[in-house]
Amino acid sequence: MHTAKISGAGHYVPERIVTNDYLATIMDTNDEWIKERTGISERRWVENGDGNTAATMGTKAAKKAIAQSGLETSDIGHIVFATISPDYYFPGCGVQVQESLDMGTIGATDIRNACSGFIYAMSIADAFVKSGTYQHVLVVASELQSPFLDKTTRGRNVSVIFGDGAGAVIVSKANKGEKGIMSCHTHAQGKHKEELTMKGFGTQHWIGELLENGIDPDIHYPQMNGNFVFKNAVVRFEQVIGEALKKNNMTSDQIDCLIPHQANLRIAQFIQKRMGLRDDQVFNNIQKYGNTTGASIAIAFSEAIETGVVKRGDIICMAAFGAGFTWGSVLMEY
Ligand code: ACO
Repeated sequence: MHTAKISGAGHYVPERIVTNDYLATIMDTNDEWIKERTGISERRWVENGDGNTAATMGTKAAKKAIAQSGLETSDIGHIVFATISPDYYFPGCGVQVQESLDMGTIGATDIRNACSGFIYAMSIADAFVKSGTYQHVLVVASELQSPFLDKTTRGRNVSVIFGDGAGAVIVSKANKGEKGIMSCHTHAQGKHKEELTMKGFGTQHWIGELLENGIDPDIHYPQMNGNFVFKNAVVRFEQVIGEALKKNNMTSDQIDCLIPHQANLRIAQFIQKRMGLRDDQVFNNIQKYGNTTGASIAIAFSEAIETGVVKRGDIICMAAFGAGFTWGSVLMEY
């Protein structure tokens, strides 16, 4: 059995900054409400026609991660791509990255576990490297959500929260003595599948229905029972971070940096308080990017490295909660 570690990270966000004040010009909302409830000041949304898609943004993040790891594209043995906003219904975005980066015929796995997508993808990459199947796995998480948000007052409880962007890491075989990824934990609870969902376009709501009835906002836009999600999220975050610490005989004061899924600043602050973590032990960037679903932890991790918040040797805990419900954590020495 080998040990896996992260050897490189990168992220990409679209150039267009969408402020709360701009949103107030297209729907009945305001900067104060959004900041107070979510912590978000602005987010990035693609510009129609700027060439950004989940796959192209993911490819840009992947290039940076590969460069930072010092590897060549040809060193990568497998791609794991997490998104719920793929370019095509099928095939998934993994094969598009493989084509764009000219990666021969290596395999590409697609993950669609929403906000937990990056954690699920990490757990698969970790298992591939631990088992000796691959030496280096490219993990990409990318979301292009702005086109399918209901940007009217009807959809304001959801649309003000979400942003576009991508992050990527390289999971590589660790050297002797390196702790690397210590454990990954994943969970799901399907009975809550409809509390946070976008039901169509899917086989339950196939094309005939769309052609006959047009767009049904309850089916073709994301729906969220915000209070219910909040209550479950804070419990599951704490549980799954606790599970990771317990598995490794560690306590929360040993975490150098907790990188929670950037769902909502209030959720992150609630967990921080419950776990007794100092401000410098938690990294948040939702203020600038909104909630980028599966990509948020990957973007935050890459930015934390870029800005010097996270350094080699730090103990990092990543944790996510989202649609499904699904949740999970990764504990590692970076
Ligand atoms: N601007 C202004 N007013 C709004 C907006 C908006 N964007 N959205 C909703 N409102 C109004 C509602 O219409 C309602 O008005 P009413 O009292 O006249 O009926 C009022 O604000 C309160 O609405 P609630 O939905 O009860 O607002 P709440 O305080 O619950 O905040 C929020 C909504 C921020 C989504 C909250 O439920 C929450 O934090 N949920 C956690 C879930 C979350 O953040 N998910 C993120 C995505 S999922 C994930 O990543 C896991």
